Amino acid sequence: MSELLEKARKYEKEAVGKILDHKRPAFHFSNPVGWMNDPNGFSEYKEEYHLFFQYYPYATQWNSMHWGHAKSRDFIQWEYLPAALAPDCAYDNFGVFSGSAIEDEDKQVLIYTGVEEKILENGEKSIRQNQCIAIGDGIDYQKLEQNPVVSADMLPEGSSREDFRDPKMWKEDGRYYMVAGSRSGDGSGQIALFYADALGEWKFAGILDRSENKCGKMWECPDFYPLADKQILMISPQEMEAEGLEFHNGNNTAFLMGSYEKEGFRFNREKIQSVDYGLDFYAPQTMQTADGRRVMIGWMQSWDNPMYPDSQPWSGMMTIPRELSLKNGRVCQRPVRELEVYRKNVVSYQDVCVEKETWLEGIEGRCADLELRLKGDSYGKCRIKLASDGRLYSEIVYDREEQVLTFDRTHSGYKKDIIGTRSIKAESINGVLSLRILIDRYSVEIFVNDGQQVMTSLIYTPFDAAQISFAGSGKAYLDVTKYDIMVAM
Ligand code: FRU
Repeated sequence: MSELLEKARKYEKEAVGKILDHKRPAFHFSNPVGWMNDPNGFSEYKEEYHLFFQYYPYATQWNSMHWGHAKSRDFIQWEYLPAALAPDCAYDNFGVFSGSAIEDEDKQVLIYTGVEEKILENGEKSIRQNQCIAIGDGIDYQKLEQNPVVSADMLPEGSSREDFRDPKMWKEDGRYYMVAGSRSGDGSGQIALFYADALGEWKFAGILDRSENKCGKMWECPDFYPLADKQILMISPQEMEAEGLEFHNGNNTAFLMGSYEKEGFRFNREKIQSVDYGLDFYAPQTMQTADGRRVMIGWMQSWDNPMYPDSQPWSGMMTIPRELSLKNGRVCQRPVRELEVYRKNVVSYQDVCVEKETWLEGIEGRCADLELRLKGDSYGKCRIKLASDGRLYSEIVYDREEQVLTFDRTHSGYKKDIIGTRSIKAESINGVLSLRILIDRYSVEIFVNDGQQVMTSLIYTPFDAAQISFAGSGKAYLDVTKYDIMVAM
């Protein structure tokens, strides 16, 4: 084992015990210590789910990237494992960037972007991003001698040599495939496909899709998978520009939906959909479970709008893993069904009329799963205050006439000038807007109309701010069910 990896393993082992569990999210994954960004290598190995992540153990800011590691049997309770990779080779000396994992004949195969920094003879700095492989047993990994196995020189003429990263690999009919993000000659994103019959011998297959400067610049963290009768190319575009209430600016995420002709490696894009409309969501990745579900997890944070208190010894969280399905031409998301095992203390109300601010007995909590049906045809707006102590709160406001749903965390306890609100167009279906809201100590995830849209955002309100209240301008009617989510640590 390299000195760098040994140092990281020793450091995290000593540090992790010092962070109290009740100062972490109750049912969302957070990193042992230091900094975390993208989920990596989200996959199954020997009947357990593995999650690796972009990781810098020694500080709560991004720095020289390692891969952290954890595993779970149910996507909810995770066990930390020792850091898996460190930037300890010449070809990844600047960082072990994002990538993926598969189970392959008893071994766990990791593929990642090795970033190499060199000072050239003329004194200039050169950065190169190439794809590398490490093979292991679920704990320890050996980097391949042939690394890097895919270099940017294999890309079409004009493609960037610096921006070529985040390989997502799968195996099909005995052959390995991988998609990776790249920047084409026009400066905007493209997704390259490669295949290999042996892990050290990759060939370029083609470009699956391109931004052509219409859908952000560099495309990061691609994933490519079938969903029902469609094929999804999932991307995280940088420098996106909003269109109305769709596609907020900056680092964004999108499902490109279409069909795939495997013979000619052709992806035909039919439409584009936002993955998540919240303030804190990026770099999602999926895996397929043994029972056939496509499950996605994302980094619950954003590059543009970093939000965590300086006092915290860790700074990263993942979303709840979500099952994807296709309904009425949209990709829908719902929290993994395993979460339901942790639901306790159900409290339910039917047809409650809310006009002035109303608190319902038993409807409160800071680790909760809330199901709401909002009904009525005469109210203007309905306001739901969450994680509230009267002074601090986060608010969900539905404007029935405009059919616009807004999440507002302006008063959720953060003292810096970060973005506070985001709105989406959300239709009531047959007069009903249905919401499922997961509230954890640091986050709110809102699944709208059976997960047709999702809004994920962080909050930093003190944990004892746990009230929930409802108010309508005019008469709004509510069905509410609340469960506490209780995960033994
Ligand atoms: C996305 C990303 C990836 C890169 C990683 C570096 O958030 O920029 O493209 O591999 O983070 O940590």
